[in-house]
Amino acid sequence: MKKRLVSPISRSGRFQTGPSEEVARFTQSISFDQRLWAQDIAGSLAHAAMLHKVGLLSTREYRAIRRGLQSIAQEIAAGRFVWRPELEDVHMNIEAELTRRVPAGARLHTGRSRNDQIALDLRLWLREEIAGLLDDLRALMGALVRLAERNAAVLIPGYTHLQRAQPVSVAHHLLAYVEMLDRDRERLAQCAERLNVCPLGAGALAGSTLPLDRAFVARELGFVDRRGRPRLTTNSMDAVSDRDFVVEFCAHAALLAVHLSRLAEDLILWNSAEFGFIRIGDAYTTGSSLMPQKKNPDVAELIRGKSGRVIGNLTALLVVLKGLPLTYNRDLQEDKERLFDTADTVRACARLMAGMLEQVEFQPERCAAAVADPMLLATDLAEALVRRGVPFRQAHHLVGAAVARAEQLGCPLDQMPLSEWQALSPLFDPSMLRVFEVKAALQRRELPGGPGPREVARQLKRWKQRLQ
Ligand code: ARG
Repeated sequence: MKKRLVSPISRSGRFQTGPSEEVARFTQSISFDQRLWAQDIAGSLAHAAMLHKVGLLSTREYRAIRRGLQSIAQEIAAGRFVWRPELEDVHMNIEAELTRRVPAGARLHTGRSRNDQIALDLRLWLREEIAGLLDDLRALMGALVRLAERNAAVLIPGYTHLQRAQPVSVAHHLLAYVEMLDRDRERLAQCAERLNVCPLGAGALAGSTLPLDRAFVARELGFVDRRGRPRLTTNSMDAVSDRDFVVEFCAHAALLAVHLSRLAEDLILWNSAEFGFIRIGDAYTTGSSLMPQKKNPDVAELIRGKSGRVIGNLTALLVVLKGLPLTYNRDLQEDKERLFDTADTVRACARLMAGMLEQVEFQPERCAAAVADPMLLATDLAEALVRRGVPFRQAHHLVGAAVARAEQLGCPLDQMPLSEWQALSPLFDPSMLRVFEVKAALQRRELPGGPGPREVARQLKRWKQRLQ
């Protein structure tokens, strides 16, 4: 005979036997949802206070429940609480233990379902997690700004199609990521704002016949707008079915992970012998078990790789939700591991990336050698012709012909004899050919948002002020 387990509280009355061990193992969520314990207890404390306020709990009962929940919280925090898988999830583990200690615990679930309870716990948890992630991202942006500042004078080629394109400064390149991360922060902050609505009182799906004070609970738990007014979900069926806020977070996190992955890829390329623009500190690299000379950028590679699971989590969530009829279905339990993994992964990546950036050293000679490529200034030459009245398309053609001629002659563009230039166009005179000075070239690029040194200094200053 298969072993059967004690009946959990939700099965008493209706059921004659408990689930088999295999079923219990399959359906349990305590192994991963126990990390919601603080939110679950905060929600129960608010709910109990409300039941007391509306007369559904006596003062003695309310106090006993409060004391019971507080001592359970202390035991969990101290690692002394015994979680029981046969009690399925965090909600039932806490409630069952409370009821074992305090008879009034049997009244705590009045007017409440695990369906609105889990919706509440997740909102509380994610609200806090986003606040932490926003701090992590701010620190990462600070690390980027510091690296940009330390290397403000270093120029490198900017690339398109991974081909050398036009010169930029390291600072300009790094600040591009600060812009992306700032948009990530903005999106996440909006997500936190939108999810800050209290679902408690939605019950299983259809509210309650009891005179619950939803606004009171919302205020207790900080679900309020800027003016302190309670924010409540406005449809009980939506409240227990809705996981939009989880999807939204995972979508924003996926884009953030993609940004981190692209930054990681830039660092990996720059760290290669072929580029040689940077060295990554030993603490963020590892050796090869076979090749003694190797120092691999594993941390950056893993940050790039971990974007895969974050994107996968988003897809998994959308697929879990897509065919679900209203309202709660147990499928929704599958949201937690995806959500937790997403938050843990992007927060770890953001922190590791920030630490690694502090240990990135640019190699000025290698950068200078790469940016000295005169081809990077072919566009500047075409624009010099435009300033002399040549239509851009024609200027583009003339410079293209000069590039081809230099290649034919096997000499760098800026060293092609004047006679060759003049054979292409008399407009190419020695004063025009002075464009091939990279520092001066950048000083001509002072449009707003451009890579000119004054404009970049202005942006650096702006970010430093904003990140203070
Ligand atoms: N552990 C469940 C979950 O994560 C809590 C809600 C259970 N509700 C229910 N009716 N079985 O979704």
